[in-house]
Amino acid sequence: MNTINKILLAIGLLASVVACKHSADTIGHNNDKISQRVDSLLNLMTLEEKIGQTVLFTSRWDVTGPVLREGEEDAIKTGKCGNIFNAHTVEYTRKLQELAVNETRLGIPLLFGYDVIHGHQTLTPISLGESASWDLKLIEKSARMAAREAAASGLHWTFAPMCDIGRDPRWGRVSEGAGEDTFLGEQIAAARVRGFQGNDLSQTNTILACVKHMAAYGASLAGRDYNSVDMSDRVLRETYLPPYKAAIDAGARTVMTSFNDLDGVPASANRYLLTDILRDEWGFDGMVVTDYTAINELIPHGVAKDEYEAGVLAMKAGVDMDMEGGVFMDHLKEAIENGEISEEELNNAVRNVLRLKFELGIMDDPFKYCNVVREREEVLSEKNRETAYEMAVASCVLLKNEANVLPLKKDEKVAVIGPLANSKRDLLGSWKAAGKPQAVEATILEAITTNAAKGKVHFVKGCDVNTEDRSGFSKAIQAAKNADKVVMVMGEKWNMSGEAACRTKLDLPGVQTDLISQIAQLNKPVILVYMTGRSMTIEKEVEAVDAVMNVWYPGTEGGRAVADLLYAKQIPSGKLTMTMPRNVGQIPIYYNYKNTGRPFNPEKPKDTYKSRYLDVENTPLFPFGYGLSYTTFAYSKLLLDKNTMNQGGELNITVDVTNTGDYDGSEVVQLYIRDHVASVTRPLKELKGFEKVFIRKGETKTIRFAITEDMLAFFRQDMSFGTEPGTFTVFVGADSDTQNQVEFTLLNQ
Ligand code: GLC
Repeated sequence: MNTINKILLAIGLLASVVACKHSADTIGHNNDKISQRVDSLLNLMTLEEKIGQTVLFTSRWDVTGPVLREGEEDAIKTGKCGNIFNAHTVEYTRKLQELAVNETRLGIPLLFGYDVIHGHQTLTPISLGESASWDLKLIEKSARMAAREAAASGLHWTFAPMCDIGRDPRWGRVSEGAGEDTFLGEQIAAARVRGFQGNDLSQTNTILACVKHMAAYGASLAGRDYNSVDMSDRVLRETYLPPYKAAIDAGARTVMTSFNDLDGVPASANRYLLTDILRDEWGFDGMVVTDYTAINELIPHGVAKDEYEAGVLAMKAGVDMDMEGGVFMDHLKEAIENGEISEEELNNAVRNVLRLKFELGIMDDPFKYCNVVREREEVLSEKNRETAYEMAVASCVLLKNEANVLPLKKDEKVAVIGPLANSKRDLLGSWKAAGKPQAVEATILEAITTNAAKGKVHFVKGCDVNTEDRSGFSKAIQAAKNADKVVMVMGEKWNMSGEAACRTKLDLPGVQTDLISQIAQLNKPVILVYMTGRSMTIEKEVEAVDAVMNVWYPGTEGGRAVADLLYAKQIPSGKLTMTMPRNVGQIPIYYNYKNTGRPFNPEKPKDTYKSRYLDVENTPLFPFGYGLSYTTFAYSKLLLDKNTMNQGGELNITVDVTNTGDYDGSEVVQLYIRDHVASVTRPLKELKGFEKVFIRKGETKTIRFAITEDMLAFFRQDMSFGTEPGTFTVFVGADSDTQNQVEFTLLNQ
């Protein structure tokens, strides 16, 4: 670049900085000072430099030392790639950032993104596990911890929260979400965004959130990943879209498109989703990135004949950034020269990217996230480990505890059996990203050994997770015979759920069930502790044993958390956020189903022409919202302050909850509403409120919920959103099966 150009460039850049230097102290994405800075910079950029900002490439991230792929280094230095994901640590991100800042003409810094799904290096339970805590403050605290660690490691952006409603446990990615319910999904999505982004994105301990996967990816046909999605606009808007919107209303600054097609149009080419709904209806003014090579995949989807056409479709639909596909890099220039994409359309995409870089403050200081001292202090700190432990304790779900075989007593002889008892890697789950097994200080076995008296624990693996090898059975059976109680730690391996990990059988894999049934015949108290990323069909196993605890993949501190729950150093309080089917044939099965015109009445089993199966009950193994404690809770005095509500009015409902057991504990009090008659069929129950409350043994607490008219709104037959007068039933109880109810009427004035 010759001297004149350098001087002009310097003047231009100075102008863009001076124009709003003071804007640094008023960061905010609606801030028009930032818009001015963005436009000033945009005016300096060449077409190629603009296109570079719409490109996101993966880096070959490596914890033992950054290995730069040739292509990527050149793409950064030449300005062809303005954003990188799968790169972290201060050392590695600084190395890449120096290339962008020092080698490119304008020195625009890279945005660094990564899948910080449930923790960065200190991992909390998988997201489905976190959701089972029903503890929004703790979920936000967990995301806050993850953001601090990720930011300290040089990252600006996480590809989370995943907001896909999951009603089909065959789909492996239910593990990454918040379960089957829309209302709970909305609350958790917003809590995670607040945790990641905090209230000031210019701080160096906050990161951009990413609402994914837009949209309805969880409804992939037959629970097979990447499969088609077809649903009515009513189901889309009533069940699947609200969590994405809740995340955006909470301030999420980016959105990721999903792999699936919806009503025949793949999300990355779906203008209805990405522009009409996301921007025009919801007012989203952030940035839309595709999922991994999703633009290229418009070709196998069959809506684009080549990458050029795919790139045009994506940009026209409202995509701003191309993850890993290289399609925008290779074809946008030609599309603009051909007039198929206007330069203004490109400018809008580039604005959405640059605005984030200004909001983060990296335009003023590209290395503000590169602080090795902060990294050393933050990553895997004791404080973060405690948060992970707290989250793991709150996430585990006690499903059965016959004759109070749990909690264990330290002097009891315990045989620990099972392929997951002594595994560190499996504790971390599928999206471990930067999590390290070597950071796990205790497996479940090791933590049980710590809690028990010396010499009281004997471990035999007994079998593998997913083989037909029964050679370990006899030793396991012998160990069980010599013990007072047996703890069997079984389940799915960490990679049997998550992306591209779908299953058509949801049983315990391999010969685990055989081993459980042989051990159960010894008439010893057997406790099944199982790890999973989904609802599994374990009816036989549940019947065979005395106690069952679902611990998900409980994270870096999960071993200690599970053992402390087993020995009542902590009290179980988790509740299911996905229904557990009896068998795969029942799927999809979820609590907020509709009555049908021929509802089956279990009190009249001989009625033939009813909605039922010949070979299994309609009811699930365990319902949404179900979970036990070591103590018990009684509900009484369910009272409404009025039994009619005017339009725009409000009712208050109270219920007394008494801890009637021998331990202090927490209960998730759940509020459901049924709309009996409407212009369209309505679910028998819909979650509309919940409160996790700690109650000391013998104590009673009065829980209060406000019921407002907007809680009764739905998409009416004409697709208008609002209420209709009539009778409503309110249920308040410990899970979605509760029949603890009162009625009220919404009046029509
Ligand atoms: C993956 C996932 C997405 C993730 C992205 C980046 O394919 O679908 O959830 O954030 O690629 O790793």
